[in-house]
Amino acid sequence: MRLSDLVRKSAAKNQDAEPQFSFAAAGSRQSEAAGHSEDRPPRTEPSDRSEVSHYYQSARQEVERILDLASQGTAFSVGRLQQIVTGMVKGLITGDELLVHALNGNEKGVDLARHMVNTSILAVKIAQGAGCRVEELPWVGLAACLHDVGMVIVPRRILEKPDGLAAEETALVRRHPEKGFRILQSLGSEFEWLANVALQEHEREDGSGYPRELKGENIHEYAKVVGLADTYEALTHFRPYRPAKPAFDVSRDLLTADRTKFPNHLLRGLIHGLSTFPVGTYVRLNNSEAARVVATNPSFPLRPVVEVVVGSKGERLDPSRRLDLSTNTLLYITGGSSATGGD
Ligand SMILES: [Fe+2]
Repeated sequence: MRLSDLVRKSAAKNQDAEPQFSFAAAGSRQSEAAGHSEDRPPRTEPSDRSEVSHYYQSARQEVERILDLASQGTAFSVGRLQQIVTGMVKGLITGDELLVHALNGNEKGVDLARHMVNTSILAVKIAQGAGCRVEELPWVGLAACLHDVGMVIVPRRILEKPDGLAAEETALVRRHPEKGFRILQSLGSEFEWLANVALQEHEREDGSGYPRELKGENIHEYAKVVGLADTYEALTHFRPYRPAKPAFDVSRDLLTADRTKFPNHLLRGLIHGLSTFPVGTYVRLNNSEAARVVATNPSFPLRPVVEVVVGSKGERLDPSRRLDLSTNTLLYITGGSSATGGD
């Protein structure tokens, strides 16, 4: 089945889909987490673009601080991070700017904090697309923001290796969910759910994950969301051992080759939440031009508004040309592009 067929089926099914989230028990934790604030909390009502960007930078700094403390075995609290994530969720409900941040960073270095914040943004969008209650989105976002805290056991030289890992290095990397569980467990019994998400985010629907090869309903719903967001984030960004993949190709692979690893309602959530061609990503047109998606079109998910930045002969177009693909039937998207318009 082609991606366009899957997209149409997903969109049709999702209209009458029931929300799949049933983790109200985690809800009582939200206010407790917020109560642990150590510093002056950031404002939680994003009013303009720079303020939304501020949340992104604040989240990165706070996650870096937590990773630092966790690597030293020092206690930390998550109150401030909870405040920042709540602000990010509000920003994600009102606009796409944070999503653009999460999808567009093309820095080449390994940055664990950036990966965790990006995963948080994508997890919120996927959960939102799958029908998650708005009140739950900050919990999903918080869990995603901390999901890889156990990676502090992996030395930087292993994270930055440009080629395959030795067996013992792979084994060490695969211990990070358990390490993350122990780190987050130390936050206290009220954060047991957060620790469980970190423990289970590499479990997969069909039992092919690790560390316990759990299946289906034995996996925490948030862990499934975080696992899908984590996979999407990793594949759409550079790693020392491979280049970034275009977002379109990653969505296609998740909906085809990897479809048994994630539940259908979350794959539909990914299509709805991120759209087939998310704002800020690059696509290739049938006339060989490359364009950047600048607005999605809910009625025509395969025909967003784009800005053509690279001509059919590979030349940079300056100024770029704006094009609404829903009104231009001669041009259509043939796939993702890693073109960056020469930036
Ligand atoms: Fe992980």
